[in-house]
Amino acid sequence: MIKVGVIFGGESVEHEVSIISGVQAIQNLDKTKYEAVPIYIAKNREMYTGAFLKDIEIYKDMDNLKRYAKNIVMYVKDNRIVLQNKKGFRRIVNEIDIVLPVVHGTNVEDGTLQGYLDLLGIPYVGSHVYSAAVGQDKVFMKQIFESAGLPVPKYTWFFETEYFENQEAIIKNIEKIGYPVIIKPARLGSSVGISKAKNKDELIEGIEEAIKYDEKILIEEVIENLSEVNASSLGDYNYYQVSELEEVMGKDEFLSYNDKYIGNGKGSSKGIKGISVGSKGMVSTNRVIPANIDKKLKDEIIIMTKEASRLLNTSGVVRIDYLIDKKKKKVYINEVNTIPGSLAFYLWEGLGMSYRELLDNIITLSIKEYKKRIKRTYSFESNILQNASLNGTKGVKGIK
Ligand SMILES: Nc1ncnc2c1ncn2[C@@H]1O[C@H](COP(=O)(O)OP(=O)(O)O)[C@@H](O)[C@H]1O
Ligand SMILES: [Mg+2]
Repeated sequence: MIKVGVIFGGESVEHEVSIISGVQAIQNLDKTKYEAVPIYIAKNREMYTGAFLKDIEIYKDMDNLKRYAKNIVMYVKDNRIVLQNKKGFRRIVNEIDIVLPVVHGTNVEDGTLQGYLDLLGIPYVGSHVYSAAVGQDKVFMKQIFESAGLPVPKYTWFFETEYFENQEAIIKNIEKIGYPVIIKPARLGSSVGISKAKNKDELIEGIEEAIKYDEKILIEEVIENLSEVNASSLGDYNYYQVSELEEVMGKDEFLSYNDKYIGNGKGSSKGIKGISVGSKGMVSTNRVIPANIDKKLKDEIIIMTKEASRLLNTSGVVRIDYLIDKKKKKVYINEVNTIPGSLAFYLWEGLGMSYRELLDNIITLSIKEYKKRIKRTYSFESNILQNASLNGTKGVKGIK
């Protein structure tokens, strides 16, 4: 039995969405092969574990959750990954073999959690620090895609301080793109802080809104006659497989947080009341699978999906989103989600792979990769410090 610590939550605007994704993953792990150990990171950054956390109901009342779940710390002790009570007798309450991160957004998905696990020496499933970090920054991503010749919408970006110091010049630069434009905090998700502007007043308003969420702002041309198509890739740099494609139908001008994760107007973006996790959850957005697009566009997207995965060096399952101008039949790559909502399992079902099999595939892949990784040399014997003295060190660059 492999014990999988499923980590979800975290201090991010997508906290609630991550709870849904996390509980879904726990419920879909193959029980004959894996034992799921929930590890929930609350908004106060504390870690909790316990069987109660496998049930979505517990998250509706945080006081209750804190009463029943165990507040823990996770670390490596004698080659075992242990979960230990933070308070009281500090008993070790559980052990795990590997972590499955099912977190979304800033301070977790963006390489933060991955870096923390690497530092502690804990193996985990999915993309590593570099791809996770780049996958969170919409500007970095575009710069990388562009450098490889993948089509991206026209864009420009700036930091908030640059905007406050030189507003007119920045607006002038944005207006070269031409209205309408779309304004995005560079490193958020779930459409939080995103707006469209048809003129200068709306632009200023949109920038002020986006600045509430991030000091790095991205402005893009609006793709007209829009159709949104997503694909998932599975694998690592050795080989990437591409899923069935989906077309996402938004009810709003663009996909809002509620559209994306809540669906049917049920629940609210603040809590998770009224969300059913079983078959719905994040699958409730209006999706058409397979996407109803030309073979030529589909082939283009498949090739781009492999290339974008390779460029970002993703591992495990990721989702890559495209914007299509239906009239011009032109595809633009929009973004990579290194830990997609619901782990994009519904796109793999389209190819006959169940969520259970998908989880098995990504866990097996990361175990293989981890074994390879630990064989590689990360450090070398060095006597630099033996030869170093505080006054006059020979052979140590930069130290005098
Ligand atoms: N350049 C664009 N033109 C038209 N619509 C866009 C454009 N960029 C984003 N959108 C719309 O806004 C939504 C959210 O933008 P996206 O960049 O995917 O951010 P998030 O990380 O929040 O999902 C998209 O799903 C799409 O509906
Ligand atoms: Mg998106």
